[in-house]
Amino acid sequence: MHAVVLYTFGPAENLRYEVVPDPVPGPGQVRIAVKAAGVHLIETAMRAGLAIGPPLPELPAIFGGEVAGTVESVGPGVDADWIGRDVVTSAGRPGGYAELAVADVAALHRMPGGLSHEAAVAMVVTGRTTIGVLDIAGLTTDDVVLVTSAAGGIGRLIVQHARRLGAKVVAAAGGPAKVAAVWDLGADHAVDYNEPGWAETVRESLGGREVTVVLDGVSGEKARAAFDLLADGGRMITFGAASRQEFHPDPEVLKARDVTMIDALALLIGSPEVMPADETRALAAAAEGALVPAVQTFPLAQAATAHAALESRATTGKVVLLP
Ligand SMILES: NC(=O)c1ccc[n+]([C@@H]2O[C@H](COP(=O)([O-])OP(=O)(O)OC[C@H]3O[C@@H](n4cnc5c(N)ncnc54)[C@H](OP(=O)(O)O)[C@@H]3O)[C@@H](O)[C@H]2O)c1
Repeated sequence: MHAVVLYTFGPAENLRYEVVPDPVPGPGQVRIAVKAAGVHLIETAMRAGLAIGPPLPELPAIFGGEVAGTVESVGPGVDADWIGRDVVTSAGRPGGYAELAVADVAALHRMPGGLSHEAAVAMVVTGRTTIGVLDIAGLTTDDVVLVTSAAGGIGRLIVQHARRLGAKVVAAAGGPAKVAAVWDLGADHAVDYNEPGWAETVRESLGGREVTVVLDGVSGEKARAAFDLLADGGRMITFGAASRQEFHPDPEVLKARDVTMIDALALLIGSPEVMPADETRALAAAAEGALVPAVQTFPLAQAATAHAALESRATTGKVVLLP
């Protein structure tokens, strides 16, 4: 099969598209002909050799793991009825950036009717994470929600959920195209946070109301400015550090302003038992049209281009590779 292999940690062009042996499904596994494979921002850091998330893999490695496709063979002990079924999983091996992947039957979801492979693969982990973050955030109609990286994979889904709920949504994103994308999603306010003074623009646009919840996956300076916009008694839910910068508010300030900081990512990583159910919920939400993922696709052979685009903030929605 063709796959994207990393031999040396470094820049995106180190990702090599080449022919490797087909994976063989073991007991309890199926082999999937991959139609769509998801890419994560953290994988760009791992590719560069930065151990700021999951442990770095041994090299050579095929990155990824979330795949949607069609079961084309089964391993020992697996019902042959699986062959020909469309499935999606977060646990494709030896990696998702490939034409074929094996996965445990127990880790498969049948593709909900009407969902494309691209949409399913965009929801299985990014949607799962979003649902977990939203459960933790517990938004209400009274909330004024500020979302950073609002045009991204998670950000777009948060904006949609908050709008459906009837909360007021302030969407912050980098650059005019992303701002236009979040206006289109129905945000009450959209702001380009690459522009100086963006926080003041948000404050003015709220006409006296204050931000009650920040949902942030960027961290660093953007998180600090978002934190400063929070009303006393508000809550800040974090789920990543796309900027690769840190933000740690002074505990005394938190106390004085009665602001609650919640590291949603730590809570979600600490509860792996809920992940399969959250994957099912995310896929169902997409099938029902309650959450509609946007995908930006690249041919599998251009995984290096996809990585370069994602890490230079040039993508909107979920990045998906098509074998
Ligand atoms: N997807 C998941 O399942 C998942 C799981 C766990 C954690 N997370 C974390 O949640 C956050 C959002 O994830 P996502 O998958 O929805 O990603 P994403 O928002 O689709 O992609 C990255 C976006 O982050 C923003 N960004 C800000 N500073 C950046 C920088 N220095 N380099 C690259 N991007 C930068 C950019 O948007 P702007 O140009 O608008 O700033 C960029 O387009 C990330 O921190 C991610 O690591 C995601």
